[in-house]
Amino acid sequence: MSAAVDMDEIKISVATVDDSERLLKFLHVHYYREEPLTVGCEPPEPDAADENFLLSNLPHGTCVMAMHEGRIIGAGVAGPKMPDEADHLFEEAERLAGSKWGCILGLLAIVERDANVFQRYNVNKALHVHAIGVDSSLRGRRIGERIVTALAARGRELGYPVFTSDCTSVYSARMMKRLGFELLNRMPYTDYVDAAGKQLIKPPAPHEFVETYVLRL
Ligand code: COA
Repeated sequence: MSAAVDMDEIKISVATVDDSERLLKFLHVHYYREEPLTVGCEPPEPDAADENFLLSNLPHGTCVMAMHEGRIIGAGVAGPKMPDEADHLFEEAERLAGSKWGCILGLLAIVERDANVFQRYNVNKALHVHAIGVDSSLRGRRIGERIVTALAARGRELGYPVFTSDCTSVYSARMMKRLGFELLNRMPYTDYVDAAGKQLIKPPAPHEFVETYVLRL
C-alpha cells in the first residue's frame, strides 16, 4: 500500500467536527498504539476522556488531516492554550487521579510549568499540538513534517504568536528540530514518579524524554 502513495497527491485539509469519527478511528490505529505516554502506562487503550479532549479541539479549526485518494494517512490535532494552562492541567490531573488520562495529565502539567513558554516568549496565548500521527506504513517520508508545517501556517493565519509541542517521541522531537523549533525543556521519564519513588510512565526504547519545543509564528 505504501509504495502506491503518490507524494504529490497528498493534500492537507483542516479537519471539522464532521470528521470526528474517521479521525478518531485513524488515531486509534496510527497514533495511540505507538504514542509513548499511551503505550507507557496501563491499560493499553486510551481513556475516553483523552479521546474526547482531542476531539474537543476540532471546533477551533486548528486540526488537520493529510489525505490521499479520500483516505486519511496522517493527522495533527492542535488547540489553543492560555497562560494558566499548567494550573489547569494540575487541577485536571488531580480530578482524574487514578485514571490513565489523569496520570498522563500529571506529566503534561509538569512539562507545561517547566517549559514556561508564556513568560519566556512574552506571549498570552499559544497554539499547542496535542497529537500527531502518520500511517504506520508511511513513516519517514516527511508526511509528519508537512502536517506540522500546515498546523503552523494555520496558527499564523489565526493570529497565534507561538506554536508549541510536547514531543513524547524521539521521532517527533527529531522532526521539530529539523523544522527549526527551539528546545524549551527536557524531562526524563525516570523523573516522573509517585510518592514511593515508582516510575509512573515507562515508554519503550528509544523514548527516554519528553521534550517541549516552540516555534515563533
Ligand atoms: N522508526 C524509525 N524512525 C522513524 C519512525 C519509525 N517508526 N518514524 C519516524 N521516524 C524518523 C524518520 O526517519 C525521521 O528521522 P530523520 O530526521 O533522521 O530522517 C523522523 O523520525 C521524523 O520523520 P518524518 O518523516 O518527518 O515524520 P513521519 O511522517 O514519519 O511522522 C511521527 C513522525 C512522529 C508523526 C510518526 O512517527 C508517528 O505517527 N508516530 C506514532 C505516534 C506518535 O508517537 N506521535 C508523536 C507523539 S509526540
